[in-house]
Amino acid sequence: MNILLIGSGGREHALAWAISASALCDRLYIAPGNPGTAQCGENVVIDVADHQAVVSFCKLQGIGLVVVGPEGPLVAGIADDLVAAGIKVFGPSKAAAQLEGSKAFTKELCAEFGIPTAGFGRFTDAAAAKAYVAEKGAPIVIKADGLAAGKGVVMAQTLDEANEAIAMMFSGGLGAAGEEVVIEEWMIGEEASFFALCDGTHALAMASAQDHKRVGDGDTGPNTGGMGAYSPAPVMTKALEEQVMAQIIMPTLAGMASRGMPFQGILYAGLMITSQGPRLIEYNVRFGDPECEVLMPRLKSDIVPALLAACDGVLDQITLRWSEEAALSVVLAAKGYPAGPEKGSVIKGVEKAAALDDVLVFHAGTKQTALDLVADGGRVLNVVGLGKSVGEAQARAYSAVDLIDWPGGFCRRDIGWQAVKRESDG
Ligand code: AMP
Ligand code: GLY
Repeated sequence: MNILLIGSGGREHALAWAISASALCDRLYIAPGNPGTAQCGENVVIDVADHQAVVSFCKLQGIGLVVVGPEGPLVAGIADDLVAAGIKVFGPSKAAAQLEGSKAFTKELCAEFGIPTAGFGRFTDAAAAKAYVAEKGAPIVIKADGLAAGKGVVMAQTLDEANEAIAMMFSGGLGAAGEEVVIEEWMIGEEASFFALCDGTHALAMASAQDHKRVGDGDTGPNTGGMGAYSPAPVMTKALEEQVMAQIIMPTLAGMASRGMPFQGILYAGLMITSQGPRLIEYNVRFGDPECEVLMPRLKSDIVPALLAACDGVLDQITLRWSEEAALSVVLAAKGYPAGPEKGSVIKGVEKAAALDDVLVFHAGTKQTALDLVADGGRVLNVVGLGKSVGEAQARAYSAVDLIDWPGGFCRRDIGWQAVKRESDG
């Protein structure tokens, strides 16, 4: 079968690596891909925003399955247009992608179906929002309803900060994403990301992971897309995983089906493990990045039959085998990230790093010039180590990082610190 993968990040290099290893995959195309995906298949230039152009490509190349990496094309309805053209696609419809595209949509679903999450209010004008904040008190969380590239959440410690965030969002500071604002109770606990494959009716638990959102060591500095991750997340015990499936994932699938918008694809639950049990922070409708880079190396089963079963509504026939080993990924970012990453600096030593045992290097914002591999984005490389413990995986990842010669880049030096501390505390 010929497969088309959409996207260009580290997540897509990890997916391309897994898909290209499948016995079912004849030709893999990646649009637009990156220099890493070019080692797994053929990068192609298609205007992904032009859904008819994607359909034409699929017909021409006999594509049997399209896999959509990022949320943007899903929220724009690419899955609907492919399905309408008779092309199989892994990823939710535009209606179902509202689980990521609209925080208010998800909160209403949680309220209707009894899914544990933070208490909330929704507002379309500043005065009512400020009155709600005055009544609830700080700390409190202010969120723009729509997609805001990770900038739509303000954790307000004080009422002044909360009111400032409300004013910023309603005065258009985040564009259309801030036309509606969701205000939430601030939940306390440890965070974990949990991934489930869904076919509209059935869900198959994948694995858990922990992301590191802040740019600096010790979880300091501004938020980023993620500076590193590890899997599994030790906080997610087997019992907790079952609780998440029963109380969060399955009611979501049932709720979406009853609304006539069955969810097919990856449901990525951002969870807060509170003293009252797991509660939903938010949903994404795709794999996390850099979480995907630590999930794929741990997946021992062929991924393609699972993706096809999700499309066909027969996920109940699939089981997935996971390695007991831990995986840990360190993101190498261009200096200046996240505010203004510098492009064009030369990166050397990637092959040396990737040649180490139990190490994988996934590309994100890289570009191959005639002579060199150069930085071409914010997050540029993901260096993944595998090991019997998170500590061992961490040591492998950093020994590979140290072989990469890139004065124009930087990374966090403490990825996995919580899990390593947990391991050494025994
Ligand atoms: P989101 O963009 O919704 O994932 O939020 C970004 C981050 O803000 C999350 O990963 C959490 O660390 C934090 N966060 C969001 N909502 C809450 C909440 N209600 N209580 C505590 N932390 C939250
Ligand atoms: N790593 C966070 C995300 O993919 O949204």
